[in-house]
Amino acid sequence: MTQSIQTLLDEIDRILTHGVRSEYATELLLGKEGLLRRAYHQLKSLPQTERRNLGKALHEREARAKNLLGSIPTVIQKDTEALYFDPTFPGGASPIGHRHPVGIIINEIVSFFTKMNFQVREGTEIETAEYNFDLLNIPPAHPAREAHDTIWINRQKGTLLRTHTSPMQIRVMAKSKPPLRVIVPGRVYRYEAEDATHASVFHQVEGFVVQQGTTVANLKWTLHAALESIFGRDIELRFRPSYFPFTQPSLEIDLACIHCEGKGCTICKQTGWLEILGAGMIHPQVLKNVGYNPARVSGFAFGVGIERLAMIKYKITDIRSFLTPDRFVIDQFPGVLQ
Ligand code: PHE
Repeated sequence: MTQSIQTLLDEIDRILTHGVRSEYATELLLGKEGLLRRAYHQLKSLPQTERRNLGKALHEREARAKNLLGSIPTVIQKDTEALYFDPTFPGGASPIGHRHPVGIIINEIVSFFTKMNFQVREGTEIETAEYNFDLLNIPPAHPAREAHDTIWINRQKGTLLRTHTSPMQIRVMAKSKPPLRVIVPGRVYRYEAEDATHASVFHQVEGFVVQQGTTVANLKWTLHAALESIFGRDIELRFRPSYFPFTQPSLEIDLACIHCEGKGCTICKQTGWLEILGAGMIHPQVLKNVGYNPARVSGFAFGVGIERLAMIKYKITDIRSFLTPDRFVIDQFPGVLQ
């Protein structure tokens, strides 16, 4: 169907008022099959009187179009996609988002522990020294405070960015009665000199169970099962004695390197083992601090660094990759949308 000359004129005017900013506009207006050519063609079949007026109108548009198109800097002509909106042109697909590796691991942990009947709590990133330290059996002069390299908000008032998720042990226990099974995923902060293995912002998941008769055996079984579920394979763990002021006894837990099966490789720095978490039985003093009777209930607790697990699972060598705006590392997970 041929368009009426008036329709063509309207379209030409629309383009001229919206601006001509690309090579495409040249084609569209002045090309061999452009709007002006088509309009001139229609002109021929019109009666003399109409021809004159419309002819004038077309000449005027042509002059304006040439003028405008002639003044486009060539760089813009080359670089700019057609700005004239063509509704018939097929659209491009938008890139699909995906989960961040830290989010993937947190989801895996949450999914395992919710199946085991744990509740998920979050807490706040701004804490007080009382919860972050004192009630966890870390008094003011305690050397463990130094080890935590605190980012203080106001040192006098004792406000800080939490250095670990452990203050949530206190907050949850103080408000509820055992039996308790809780995990706390969240962001934590340390005043660190950053390098490939130290970040000043990272994530932990705290986990704790308090009820009558909880033992180290429960802790071992739970962590073994959780880590097998996260790594999706059989694993071997090593438990070493350690020290945290809020657990007694305290354990450091190592994973037999899942990349070399303990033989020694660059990921485990030739040791065959990867240090992955701190844990222990909740210290009787901590239980007393929240009003529990350590003679009646006991509990275990653990804290695991999420970036560390993600680095091991996905062989990421620099912890800074998780937060860099250069998406080289995190965009390698496009398939994972869980
Ligand atoms: N909060 C400890 C840390 O950040 C980890 C931990 C949690 C250890 C719970 C024992 C029990 O280093």
